[in-house]
Amino acid sequence: MEGGERSKDKGEVAPRSASGYLDPHYWNERFKSEEHYEWFKDYSHFQHLVRRHIHPSYSVLELGCGNSRLCEELFKDGVTDITCIDLSDVAVDRMRERLLAAGLHGIKVLQADMLDLPFSSQSFDLVIEKGTMDVLFVDSGDPWNPNPVTVKKVMEMLEGVHKVLKPQGTFISITFGQPHFRRPLFESPGFTWSVEWNAFGDGFHYFFYILKKGRRSAESQACHNEKHEPSINMFHEELEDEDYIFRTAIDVMES
Ligand SMILES: C[S@@+](CC[C@H](N)C(=O)[O-])C[C@H]1O[C@@H](n2cnc3c(N)ncnc32)[C@H](O)[C@@H]1O
Repeated sequence: MEGGERSKDKGEVAPRSASGYLDPHYWNERFKSEEHYEWFKDYSHFQHLVRRHIHPSYSVLELGCGNSRLCEELFKDGVTDITCIDLSDVAVDRMRERLLAAGLHGIKVLQADMLDLPFSSQSFDLVIEKGTMDVLFVDSGDPWNPNPVTVKKVMEMLEGVHKVLKPQGTFISITFGQPHFRRPLFESPGFTWSVEWNAFGDGFHYFFYILKKGRRSAESQACHNEKHEPSINMFHEELEDEDYIFRTAIDVMES
């Protein structure tokens, strides 16, 4: 695989540096051989949080599905109108094959860029992503002051998500990104969504953000300038996990 190496223990392929995660070729090569890799945690760890925000009548868009089982789990939880997108054509082909083999014909899988979503305004009740937005941050520099290129991409993504959500729609973002880094972006002027979050996980907490369109409050605006030092508490095995490389806040704190 170009520019990567195979982990001895887990068999997955990681790029030599975190910025490799921004390279579409990296993902294509990885998905050719990798059947399943669940970034962060699998559905069972945050199912209780997701269930509060889904309904069988909802149309759902998943951003950057990779080879995750998130869409199948949502389907099992009663949501049948699901569209998955990924930038990687290999991920898309393999996801289609897998869903077909599982008899899940209703889930649509499209090759698309989350920075340029090919959907009409107000198409979805729920947009969900797990670890996909984090890809944009891998070379963001100082997490307190991410570089302008990163911010531009993140804003393109968020503006697209805001646009394709129905007026009362919800965006769920499951991420390593801590509130003091994500809130300034989520709460940018122009977005009408409220911003709430839950944490889950054991040693290190992952964040489950819930952004509800049309529910922006003055209170969420007022918290815009809060700045807290990140608190990190991880188990040794988590430090060895590939997810660790992916977390730019830690990279910066270590350097
Ligand atoms: C860290 S993985 C997360 C995969 C999956 N969501 C999970 O939880 O296991 C990031 C995924 O985002 C995809 N991706 C990266 N940039 C993208 C973009 N601009 N638009 C759509 N998908 C993208 C990658 O191909 C990869 O499948």
